[in-house]
Amino acid sequence: MQSPTILASRAPGPTVAANEGDNRATFRSQPVARRSFLRSLGIGATLLVPGFALLGGRREALAQALAESGPTVVTQGDVAILRFLAAAELLEQDLWQQYSELADGNPAFKEGLAVLDEDMNQYIFDNTDDELSHADFLNAFLIAIGAQPVNLDAFRTLPSSQATGAQQIGRLTNLMNLTVDTSWWIRYRSTDSPDFGDTFPQFIDIVNRPAIPLQDLPVGSDEAQAVANTAAFHFGTIEQGGTSLYPSLALKVNDLTVLKILLGIGGSEVNHFAIWHDKAGNAPEVKVPGVSFPDMKSFEGDELRQKNLIMPEPCKFVSPQLPQCSVIRPVMSPRGAVAAAALNGLRGSGLFSGQSNSFFSTMNDLAQAADNAVRR
Ligand SMILES: [Fe+2]
Ligand SMILES: [Fe+2]
Repeated sequence: MQSPTILASRAPGPTVAANEGDNRATFRSQPVARRSFLRSLGIGATLLVPGFALLGGRREALAQALAESGPTVVTQGDVAILRFLAAAELLEQDLWQQYSELADGNPAFKEGLAVLDEDMNQYIFDNTDDELSHADFLNAFLIAIGAQPVNLDAFRTLPSSQATGAQQIGRLTNLMNLTVDTSWWIRYRSTDSPDFGDTFPQFIDIVNRPAIPLQDLPVGSDEAQAVANTAAFHFGTIEQGGTSLYPSLALKVNDLTVLKILLGIGGSEVNHFAIWHDKAGNAPEVKVPGVSFPDMKSFEGDELRQKNLIMPEPCKFVSPQLPQCSVIRPVMSPRGAVAAAALNGLRGSGLFSGQSNSFFSTMNDLAQAADNAVRR
């Protein structure tokens, strides 16, 4: 079998700042310890630049693994896709860490989430851990193939919540004024598909609302419950985005190991989405000025809204002439601006409110390079 050529040149794209203080890895407040990617590599959880452990002998092992996957090569386009995904995972990890800190340390938020499921905080901690592993793995792989990893530390400038439980550190993302797209609730219950241009209404209007407590709220109050419900729907919104992003970009990659990485991590995003879809259905009825969460039981018999219809309804797929199929939707055309669409969706939600022009320029460059990738 012909050995693959491992790309040695650096990918085009923005130069990102060198690591200085790392304020990600301080999340260690899980009530139940989990396996850790970093621990599995035998390195400390506070390592600042992931991937160093892959140098030396581990790099040879990686070359062997690549060789076994077939005679394809890691292209510049593959690298650009991996770099965009590494950035996306750093953003995900940042927002999930904020949720974790408050789910653990803020009594009103914790109580509000527990109304949906008593295990909510465990799931939040585990989702956070998974995102950390995704970002670290992608950057370690990039380093191992001689490509440039992604570091967004220079953009950790946004303020933290002032509520009890939140660390006072700079953030990449802003969860304080979100417009949450809840159309996925109806999209996954519909036989229509965005792949054919179909559009879907919002299930619940969540516009310019906090998904984390901005300051301490009374435990058990409607205000606290509305924040917890907003977070619960945002969990599903974020993870259904990852569920579509990975297969959409997988259609553009060339190397089989890179494809394996996208399919593997993408599957983890699907798993997260399925859990959050189920939990959001437990959001209790609550109304506060600015947002109203309905009685979920009132949708019984409404096939586009019923709370327990959480399995993906078969829908149009590939061709309307073929039988309907239960699938992820959307999976965008490989000719489309997949990464730019994901980035614009996040930006439109308010997740980056307050970020600098430099941040948007960096992210746009990463997205454009990924979207320029072509499968041969
Ligand atoms: Fe992820
Ligand atoms: Fe995710």
